[in-house]
Amino acid sequence: MKDIYTLGIESSCDETSVAIVKNGREILSNVIDTQIPIHEKYGGVVPEIASRNHIEAISRVTKKALEEANMTLEQIDAITPTYGPGLVGALLVGLSYAKALSFAVNKPLVGVNHIQGHIAANYITYAELEPPFLCMMMSGGNTQIIYVKGYTEFEVLGKTRDDAIGEAFDKVARVVGLGYPGGPKVDKLALEGKPTIDLPKTHFENMDFSFSGIKTAVINVHHKNPEINKADLCASFEKTIVEILIENVTKAVKLTGIKTIALAGGVSANKFIREAFLNLEDIKVYMPDLKLCTDNAAMIASAGYYNYLAGKRDGLELNAIPNLKL
Ligand code: KG4
Repeated sequence: MKDIYTLGIESSCDETSVAIVKNGREILSNVIDTQIPIHEKYGGVVPEIASRNHIEAISRVTKKALEEANMTLEQIDAITPTYGPGLVGALLVGLSYAKALSFAVNKPLVGVNHIQGHIAANYITYAELEPPFLCMMMSGGNTQIIYVKGYTEFEVLGKTRDDAIGEAFDKVARVVGLGYPGGPKVDKLALEGKPTIDLPKTHFENMDFSFSGIKTAVINVHHKNPEINKADLCASFEKTIVEILIENVTKAVKLTGIKTIALAGGVSANKFIREAFLNLEDIKVYMPDLKLCTDNAAMIASAGYYNYLAGKRDGLELNAIPNLKL
């Protein structure tokens, strides 16, 4: 069979990334231009600033991705941009650029759902992984348990009713004075602490999540006692988060009978969460390479490949959808 090369474009939040992937699994280039230092001083991503920086970066990043893969646009089979979910202005930059490329070189445009991209990060890391499996998707904007029935067929079994898990990590980090982005900093500090503080868990009949209660509890504990050991607070927060995740994932395993779980999204870089999933009995666990957990275009190019194989083609009318669902 002829090799298929997809060019992925990712600009849904604060990373401008372009990648070229062969047959959905092999990275030829994955250039990531991060804006974290720009947004750090505001304590979070400022959408308007993100859009402007994507505009400044997109041509340079694309050129570099082609150079690193030693390819020309003519050799690419499909242009596969993220078209949602994400910040609308930021998405529009990558999507408009992708449309222009597609039109200029007469290559198919194949839109990709960002969450589908996070799931696909696992296909790059594990050549043998194939659906069906369960995916625990944990990022700055999403928390979902997804039943991956096929490469382009998904059922959401549970989702957050309020904050995303990454938002909770970032908020906790801000409250205890660790800065942005908070997840990795909480992760590091928790290693020095003990989970001695009781924090609340919200339970639902189904597999939905809620993280606003635990987030507020951490804020209250810290405000009432600013001298509290921050490492212990971070360790207690992580321990409770892990219990919430494992409780729901166990329900999903029981319901579907599927015993393969893949992690996805930025929060799946968390050491404590990775360890807890690896300790699950009788479950095969996959987790993306650390560098593929956070936003990157290789995972988008991989998902784009499977959309392309499934016959998905988009026209120039494809729009950015900030709240796109799977
Ligand atoms: O998937 P991602 O890069 O962006 C979205 O698509 O949202 O996820 C970013 C989120 C941020 O909230 C960040 O704090 C969190 O992932 N994160 C972590 C870790 N590394 C990144 N959270 C906990 N532990 C980590 N090691």
